[in-house]
Amino acid sequence: MTVNNIADAVDAPVRKTFLPYNRPDIGQAEIDEVVDTLRSGWITTGPKTKEFEKRFAEYVGSRHAIAVNSCTGGLHVALAAAGIGPGDEVIVPTMTFCATANVVVHLGATPVIVDVEPDTLNIDPQCLEAAITPRTRAVIPVHLYGHPCDMDRINEIAETYRLLVIEDAAHAVGAEWRGRLVGTLSLATTFSFYATKNRTPAEGGMITTDDDEYAEEMRVWTLHGISHDAWKRYSAEGSWYYEVVAPGFKYNLTDLQSALGLHQLARLEAMTQRRAELASRYTRGLGDLPQIELPACRSGVRHAWHLYPIRLRLSMLAIDRATFIEQLRGEGIGTSVHFIPLHRQPFYADRFGFEPSDFPIADAAYECLISLPLYTRMSERDIDDAIEAVRRVVQRNR
Ligand SMILES: Cc1ncc(COP(=O)(O)O)c(C=O)c1O
Repeated sequence: MTVNNIADAVDAPVRKTFLPYNRPDIGQAEIDEVVDTLRSGWITTGPKTKEFEKRFAEYVGSRHAIAVNSCTGGLHVALAAAGIGPGDEVIVPTMTFCATANVVVHLGATPVIVDVEPDTLNIDPQCLEAAITPRTRAVIPVHLYGHPCDMDRINEIAETYRLLVIEDAAHAVGAEWRGRLVGTLSLATTFSFYATKNRTPAEGGMITTDDDEYAEEMRVWTLHGISHDAWKRYSAEGSWYYEVVAPGFKYNLTDLQSALGLHQLARLEAMTQRRAELASRYTRGLGDLPQIELPACRSGVRHAWHLYPIRLRLSMLAIDRATFIEQLRGEGIGTSVHFIPLHRQPFYADRFGFEPSDFPIADAAYECLISLPLYTRMSERDIDDAIEAVRRVVQRNR
């Protein structure tokens, strides 16, 4: 090797082909099922959606599962059906996607935004309790990155103060809290099947609950406020007559998506295990770097590993997070940041007059978070490339 060749090899990025931060895992069986659904004539909500709801409820172990077109729609429906409205307060963590709080605003209620725990970045039960007022009606714990919240403590507080618990489990399908699957731990739980999520029919969501009456009310809100299964109107047993009993939404899931969802549900356990394997490969490959803090995984939980967010110890590095991300990109590795906390978003900061120092834990974490690529189609080699890229950037800038 000449001196120039050696220099080229050293300067060459870890990857020649870019490793995206996320990529869906859709196999031939799913594609065939979609084609079959298109041929069946039932493309909007119909028998496949009913089947998907039934199998999802069986998987989670809940009495009911209600398919919706997104987790956002699910949260909106769950709150509306619970009668949340003007004058009510709903407590949400600041470290989440904006949808968790936006739906509260849509209903004319007030989202009360609180700080998070230092290790998991999930809602801090102490901050939750401190934020309760006579107007508080509900709390939305978010199982961030797929790590369950402290549901024992949250349920205890909710019982003491008579609050409704509606979980945002957008990241947490397959996660467990003390041996119980997320989806069975509170009044209602909403899941997301958005394209980047652990399993995806492109877009979609599901609400689970054990409460028969509330399930019925949510179903009504899901589809225009119509009092019975609207899709039955077009089937052999259907009738033209319907009644609108609430000003409902249009949040139904289509059979095309449910066809995909059914297949992905069958593969969910294998996919969750694969994510755990890939996450532990990251942990082994990065664990010795003092400049990097790895994601928490407490005992007594099953992490769904929706994301693998590292935190930079910036005092040990000569660059900031944005430059770190740029340099990873230069090495051929895509990343993202989860999340820009709600208190930093102009709408919420302006409306409530927040300062970053109001949320010291989430704010400090935000400055140094980077989500590394993690999805089931990644190979061991892909993970090793991302590890190598992080190690290189650290070495260059420590
Ligand atoms: C924590 C959280 N909640 C809710 C949502 C909204 O999910 P959907 O896109 O299915 O509406 C997301 C989406 O990224 C999310 O990350």
